[in-house]
Amino acid sequence: MAGIQLHNLSKIFKLKEEDVVALNKINLNIKDESFVTIVGKSGCGKTTLLRILSSLESKSEGEIVFTQGNTVITSPKIAIVFQEPRLMPWLTIRDNMKLSLIKIKNRHEVNRRVDHYLELLDLWRFQDAYPNQISGGMAQRVALGRTLCYEPDIILMDEPLGALDIYNRKILQDEIIKIFENCKKTIVFVTHDVDEALYMGQQVVVMNNGNLVNHMRISESHSKDMNSHEMKALKRALTHSIMDSRIIRNDFSA
Ligand SMILES: Nc1ncnc2c1ncn2[C@@H]1O[C@H](COP(=O)(O)OP(=O)(O)O)[C@@H](O)[C@H]1O
Ligand SMILES: [Mg+2]
Repeated sequence: MAGIQLHNLSKIFKLKEEDVVALNKINLNIKDESFVTIVGKSGCGKTTLLRILSSLESKSEGEIVFTQGNTVITSPKIAIVFQEPRLMPWLTIRDNMKLSLIKIKNRHEVNRRVDHYLELLDLWRFQDAYPNQISGGMAQRVALGRTLCYEPDIILMDEPLGALDIYNRKILQDEIIKIFENCKKTIVFVTHDVDEALYMGQQVVVMNNGNLVNHMRISESHSKDMNSHEMKALKRALTHSIMDSRIIRNDFSA
């Protein structure tokens, strides 16, 4: 497990015509074993932030510090789940799940992990099927299983349910929450959907145009009633800060 501290993190894409400031001196503290959702309009910098956290992209300025308790750690195990499941069509579900374990030589351990997550994600019956034989929701569950098999400290999710219909989306939202409660990982979950951000997160961070503009701690537990007065008020406040770019805070490190 690991926490993440961002200190003045910036990303500037230098294009021919102009520079694009995708992240503008962001300060944020994500605690060990917390579930944080990041919400904002398309183009506000959500994917860039996750790509930098997972070293798929370089930062321009600032610092990222990973911690375990009070200790700074250099290389936590980080995994990222994308909107598309990115499964290998020529491999079975079981073999797709094994892909994140190619460095583990102990076959017994590989099978133990794959069996465990096939069971947990209700994929057992489909382990010998191929990706084109399962539904989109199930394929995304396999992608999640592949990530969990790797047993990362931090899971980054970039709109992982964005391509699913509303029913499958709901089912997977609850499954991800259940996984979080059982496995106690640090999860950073990106979405552009305000309801999803509120429903999933213990904390919700709002991004707007490369800036952090709001940060809410949700007092209710994970079984949230989205029709409660509290949730409706939070939703109004969140929507307001997603739409209004005049308020810039950029420092939610406390
Ligand atoms: N590789 C890139 N080169 C140039 N500009 C980029 C690149 N990736 C992202 N951007 C720009 O950075 C901004 C943030 O993009 P992104 O992080 O993808 O936003 P989001 O995921 O919130 O939709 C956008 O203006 C986007 O056009
Ligand atoms: Mg994106």
